[in-house]
Amino acid sequence: MNAANIDVLVREVGLRDGLQMVAEFFPTDQKIAWIRAEAAAGVREIEVSSFVPPKLIPQFADAEAVVEAALQIGGLTVMALVPNLRGAERGLALGVHKLDFVMSVSRTHNLKNVRREREESLADLRRIVAARDAAAAAGGTRTQIAAGLSTALGCSYEGAIAVGDVCRYAAALAEAGVDEIMVADTVGYADPALVRKAFRAVLAEVGDVPVAAHFHDTRGTGLANVVAALDCGVRRFDASLAGLGGCPFAPGATGNIVMDDLCFMLDSMGLRTGVDLSRLLAVREILARQLPAAEMRGALARAGLPTGYQPAPQRVPA
Ligand code: COA
Ligand code: ZN
Repeated sequence: MNAANIDVLVREVGLRDGLQMVAEFFPTDQKIAWIRAEAAAGVREIEVSSFVPPKLIPQFADAEAVVEAALQIGGLTVMALVPNLRGAERGLALGVHKLDFVMSVSRTHNLKNVRREREESLADLRRIVAARDAAAAAGGTRTQIAAGLSTALGCSYEGAIAVGDVCRYAAALAEAGVDEIMVADTVGYADPALVRKAFRAVLAEVGDVPVAAHFHDTRGTGLANVVAALDCGVRRFDASLAGLGGCPFAPGATGNIVMDDLCFMLDSMGLRTGVDLSRLLAVREILARQLPAAEMRGALARAGLPTGYQPAPQRVPA
């Protein structure tokens, strides 16, 4: 975490998880405006794009330009998704701060999403770590490698996923030398009881490697799942402004937990995120303008801040 004065790191993933579902091209300058506005609102880490083949997801044909612009923003950790070594090479060439390597716990989803067996994904991850180490040794940026376990809490092809399988792959990621592990409920199947069980098991398995949670609110359990993960000690959460999100290769996948509502809940609980809620809400304008047909979710945006609301640091202890 790049700041001592926050309690929880909230990471914006809407530019990747959200836009990968949007067919119409979101102009590059507007992606950059969104990133700049969120950084100015106090968001410290943003997943800004995805190094996937432009033929597969044309929305990310401008990944290089977006990452380069984001890297100019002081104090912002810039992350980008990579599905394979080729994607990682594109990110390393730019000196991106963090790579988000994805693989799925569900064998079927891994085959559909990245067209390979899970063991092949792990082998590619080991090559990515080696490429990162070589780039760092050559005097470049030491890019962090975060590895995500998609469909860790349920899969729309396979149904329930065994916690033992999640632990096995989490251990393999830690063994490969990643800097962070994200446990993802890609299709929104989780509930707080499952979250407690799975996160306790994963945290016990991976030692010192930080574990982040990536929840989707498909069935209304998103913020309850955040509280369950907080109880386990998780302090890093992915979310997307207005709840944009989903996976094009997972049937029934819908939006991430709403960034604005997550920040409000954490702040209300006295957990500092560094984010100015009013400024964050104002960023929704950029999305509303560019994506007039998109469903913009968010309870805080609908209801407004409570009367007399004090942000977390100023609150007088009860
Ligand atoms: N960036 C740019 N181009 C890439 C690339 C990358 N990361 N990875 C592969 N390519 C290119 C190859 O060079 C090749 O180009 P060519 O046809 O001109 O020779 C072509 O894409 C196919 O490469 P191949 O290695 O055979 O890939 P594939 O067709 O087996 O697809 C993945 C594998 C991983 C690249 C693809 O399934 C993918 O990007 N999946 C991610 C999906 C996603 O974003 N899901 C949502 C997020 S979880
Ligand atoms: Zn997701």
